[in-house]
Amino acid sequence: MVSQKGIRSLLTRSESETTHLAEEMGRSLKPGDIVALVGEIGSGKTLFIKGLCRGLGVKDPNEVKSPTFVLLHIYEGRFPIHHFDLYRLEEGKELDAIAFDEFIRNPEAVSLIEWADRAPNRIPEKATWVELKIKGPHSRQISIKSHEENLKH
Ligand SMILES: Nc1ncnc2c1ncn2[C@@H]1O[C@H](COP(=O)(O)OP(=O)(O)OP(=O)(O)O)[C@@H](O)[C@H]1O
Ligand SMILES: [Mg+2]
Repeated sequence: MVSQKGIRSLLTRSESETTHLAEEMGRSLKPGDIVALVGEIGSGKTLFIKGLCRGLGVKDPNEVKSPTFVLLHIYEGRFPIHHFDLYRLEEGKELDAIAFDEFIRNPEAVSLIEWADRAPNRIPEKATWVELKIKGPHSRQISIKSHEENLKH
């Protein structure tokens, strides 16, 4: 594991290694936290979110699926989880239509956002960014960048 100020980066070699890493991170998430995920198609954003949801106490992680057509899915874990996928986003107005800003600023819920780089200016500064890179059929380089504010506690 490479660790610099606020950045953790490691190579996972299987789906289950990614799930475990995400589950561990999910256990430490608190209400109000925002996780912004980026990486090419098939890099593992949805799989990572499934792992986060396990760590967040979602009973059936199989209900975790990319909300491709509706932009948002909501699950119940230790607290509400808002799962967005911005892949098909064409303009900011669509985010206004679903009250995106209000959802992600809800202090009682956690927001997980796939393809967050499609709307970078709408992601609050305090968000944790997770970047996934495909290194081989079963390996992914995963970098987790926490905002300083989140490292204090
Ligand atoms: N080490 C690994 N970590 C994560 N996924 C892996 C790994 N090795 C193989 N995979 C496979 O990569 C795929 C990741 O798919 P997933 O739907 O999570 O990607 P995604 O980034 O959400 O794609 P999309 O942009 O289409 O939403 C799965 O089929 C998974 O089994
Ligand atoms: Mg996905």
